[in-house]
Amino acid sequence: NPVGTDLIAEINRLRKERNAVILAHYYQRPELQDLADFVGDSLELSRKAAETDAEVIAFCGVKFMAETAKILSPNKIVVLPDMEAGCSLEDSCPPEKFAAFRERHPDHIALTYINCSTEVKALSDIIVTSSSAETILSQIPADQKIIFGPDRHLGGYLSRKFNREMLLWPGVCIVHEAFSERELLKLKAEHPDAPVAAHPECPPHIIDHADYVGSTSGILNFAKTFPGDTLIVATEPHIIHQMEKALPEKTFIGAPGADGNCNCNICPYMALNTLEKLYVALRDLQPRIEIEEGLRLKAKQSLDRMLEMAS
Ligand code: 13P
Ligand code: SF4
Repeated sequence: NPVGTDLIAEINRLRKERNAVILAHYYQRPELQDLADFVGDSLELSRKAAETDAEVIAFCGVKFMAETAKILSPNKIVVLPDMEAGCSLEDSCPPEKFAAFRERHPDHIALTYINCSTEVKALSDIIVTSSSAETILSQIPADQKIIFGPDRHLGGYLSRKFNREMLLWPGVCIVHEAFSERELLKLKAEHPDAPVAAHPECPPHIIDHADYVGSTSGILNFAKTFPGDTLIVATEPHIIHQMEKALPEKTFIGAPGADGNCNCNICPYMALNTLEKLYVALRDLQPRIEIEEGLRLKAKQSLDRMLEMAS
């Protein structure tokens, strides 16, 4: 196998040869973000996947994101460099249990975070991402009862912000759950003028200290516009790569976990993708996402609703 710069040259050769587009999430390793044709948040990546005229989508992200790309672009080959790149939120919500929960609450609609399996999407009414959830929730009549899953922190955040009760599925993101309030307060004391930007997957004891709460693209925009020179970032720290590229004169500090540094907040699933695995995926067009057509069409309904309501 080629190494180093050869590897990048080979990926670039294969990208052309295969007519492939490389999409990457902000939580990917910097070298994958730098190689990608497009880097974005979950909603932007879904839109790109739906629009692209490439024949192959190489998805540097996690499995639910690559599956979303396949649901929206069924005629494209979608490869994920490492098929083990899952998500703790998806794992928390097995489809049979979610179906049973829905059956117990027949008067509720299911508003579901995109971080879930294709099967759970097929059991849902409307999908949301963290950047589209507020716009979408504001369009749902006040008397409509809602189940929100699988992220209880995002659901709790929306519920508090909109003063709207929702039945919450008890899932969490292990990455955002790992931030330590005690360590964050210490860091804030060291940098009294630095604002805190947090992702809504964070638990309330972290959100309560945030000056800005939003999706990865929202946090990135905040980083580009806040007036100070130091920002504390309470989300997966690989996003700091984009901030440092855009604003090299400013300082971005990842919010700490209990050990006092931000390394424990690296998403272990996102980190599975590497340059080597991307090269192999483009070379072999494997591992490939395949979804049974009936399931795909059901899941597409809730995703299409998101794309309509989010715009
Ligand atoms: P967004 O990029 O939509 O904010 O999602 C964050 C996330 O945790 C993806 O797994
Ligand atoms: Fe899932 Fe959290 Fe990793 Fe995103 S950061 S893929 S929500 S475990």
